[in-house]
Amino acid sequence: MMKPINVGLLGIGTVGGGTWTVLTRNQEEIKRRAGRPISIVKVADKDVARAQQVTGGTVAVTDDAMSVVSDPDVDIVVELIGGTTLAKQLVLQAIENGKHVVTANKALLALHGNEIFAAAQKKGVIVAFEAAVAGGIPIIKAVREGLSANRIEWIAGIINGTTNFILTEMREKGLAFADVLQQAQKLGYAEADPTFDVEGIDAAHKLMILAAIAFGIPMQFDKVYTEGITRLTREDIGYAEQLGYRVKLLGITKRSENGVEMRVHPTLIPEKRLIANVNGAMNAVLVKGDAVGPTLFYGAGAGAEPTASAVIADLVDVTRMATADPHQRVPHLAFQPDQLSDLPILPISEVSSAYYLRLRAVDKPGVLADVTRILGDLAISIDAMVQKEPAEGETEADIVLLTHITLEKNIDCAIAGLEALASISGKIKRIRVEHLHG
Ligand code: HSE
Repeated sequence: MMKPINVGLLGIGTVGGGTWTVLTRNQEEIKRRAGRPISIVKVADKDVARAQQVTGGTVAVTDDAMSVVSDPDVDIVVELIGGTTLAKQLVLQAIENGKHVVTANKALLALHGNEIFAAAQKKGVIVAFEAAVAGGIPIIKAVREGLSANRIEWIAGIINGTTNFILTEMREKGLAFADVLQQAQKLGYAEADPTFDVEGIDAAHKLMILAAIAFGIPMQFDKVYTEGITRLTREDIGYAEQLGYRVKLLGITKRSENGVEMRVHPTLIPEKRLIANVNGAMNAVLVKGDAVGPTLFYGAGAGAEPTASAVIADLVDVTRMATADPHQRVPHLAFQPDQLSDLPILPISEVSSAYYLRLRAVDKPGVLADVTRILGDLAISIDAMVQKEPAEGETEADIVLLTHITLEKNIDCAIAGLEALASISGKIKRIRVEHLHG
């Protein structure tokens, strides 16, 4: 019988606890797959009592994570503590000590991935991160290995469960954003700092990782355009629905003629698309390859056992590859490290999209003519339009427009022109529209 591979677990909260449970429950099957037992030999958690409770006193528990990273008996360090300060030190030290690393930490990789992968490359160790994007969905493996014949054209994903839950509740129950947020936090999917979810930052971290492996570009998180869902109203969700669309927080990365788009924002999607019907806290990622066409991956993007599923798959991979020549391994970012590309990242002003615009207009002759003239002068073509009657006792009405595809900077100009009209009051609401054609 082969000697077990020894794991040091950093963090035994939701995902760490799930990892412990699943690894224990399925150990026989996992051993048959990995070729040797995978055994957690040491656990670090700031809450030692909790760690002892979960592990039932069967392994050494400490509050000193560095001692796990430096333990000569540990072959693989699993980092599940999150954050980018201590986690970074621990991961870099583990690499320095020649240990393989499995992490679910999307923020760490999006911000410091270049440094971490370079260090791992130098030391000949693996840094595996399936659990960092879309929880239990094996999207990293799919894009990096399963689709490696393709030129990836674009990826569009619902990659934050908390916001998808909020948007689903807003649409189905007609609730306001603030009312649903608290409920979402109680369900335990939210980040430690929920602004990471609702402002789109968590999705942006994950999108950066997807873009890196899709196009073979280095991490450059500061270039991801990020807009969350806090300004979405139930009115907009309702109008979108009347026009045949659902509103989703999408992470989109696309290769265009001039560079790569990376953007996270609320998006109208035709309701007949499968991905438009991904509800609750579920995640889904659409990947368009030139050979395969569109592929859709769906599943739980958060939670204890779904995320543990990804962590343990990485442990199995590392176990199988630990003794292999580093050159035989799958490169961290899908492309050979000396083959990364310096494709430019497009600023949002250079991105092409269709748009939903909502205007508050005085109900009097000539207003629509002014609106269409401003759009026409910028060569922005209108796809659909709805005008609502003013509510009882009011003189202003909502006008909702859908445009054909245009450059974002043209829409910026149009919005400035429209907002300057005396007959238009307040700010114009803009939401991008993606048709996600195969
Ligand atoms: N806060 C994340 C989500 C957890 O809501 O999807 C998984 O990364």
